Amino acid sequence: MPTTITYLSHSAVMIQRGPVTLLIDPFITGNPAATAKASDLKPTHIAVSHGHADHLGDTVELAKRTGATVFCNFELGEHIMAQGVKAVEQFNPGGQVKTAFGFIACTKAFHSSSIDGTGKYMGQPNGIIAHFNADAAASAFTAYHCGDTDLFGDMALIGEIYKPDVAFIPIGDRYTMGPMLATRAAQLIKPRVAVPIHYNTWPPIEVDVREFAPRGVEVRVLKPGEAWRVS
Ligand code: NI
Ligand code: MN
Repeated sequence: MPTTITYLSHSAVMIQRGPVTLLIDPFITGNPAATAKASDLKPTHIAVSHGHADHLGDTVELAKRTGATVFCNFELGEHIMAQGVKAVEQFNPGGQVKTAFGFIACTKAFHSSSIDGTGKYMGQPNGIIAHFNADAAASAFTAYHCGDTDLFGDMALIGEIYKPDVAFIPIGDRYTMGPMLATRAAQLIKPRVAVPIHYNTWPPIEVDVREFAPRGVEVRVLKPGEAWRVS
């Protein structure tokens, strides 16, 4: 099965392979850069890096409408189950949950996490690993979505262990790494392809994407709504 990645803008990405549609950080409604409508999305799985509204986004509505299983940390899981989401796989950094297609794993991220407006603590912010096993038609595929984070040295270890084909790396500065640190992050992770995320959604995170220029790593800039057939 081919693997297709669609950049939904900001930190929201969709990975499709065969019967699987995985959304990561599906912030669509209220996102000025989004081109899709949340009501058109039909996820089978949703992974959420942390509780901030620009990541949790439409998760609750999407999960309730489609029955998609949501992968997130313990506290965020409690929060969305209290809102009526039934299928939730809670995990914390280091944890891996097996799925029909492979696994989804939780990594650490250096950031904060709470529910906007209430300040309610939502556990440690995370990065997400999504691994698809090889099948008859395609080789294995692994993505590393860094979430919102600073640069940290263990990114090299995460890269070494999971060998991501694609890494989604925040570059928008102010709340996450900017292009300079994100460039170093890509050089530590060493994915086959690095895709910049979390930039130019609003003025405070406007950056020149050309400043994200890791040595030895292919950069693929996806426009909001753009689909990329990876394999
Ligand atoms: Ni955040
Ligand atoms: Mn964010």
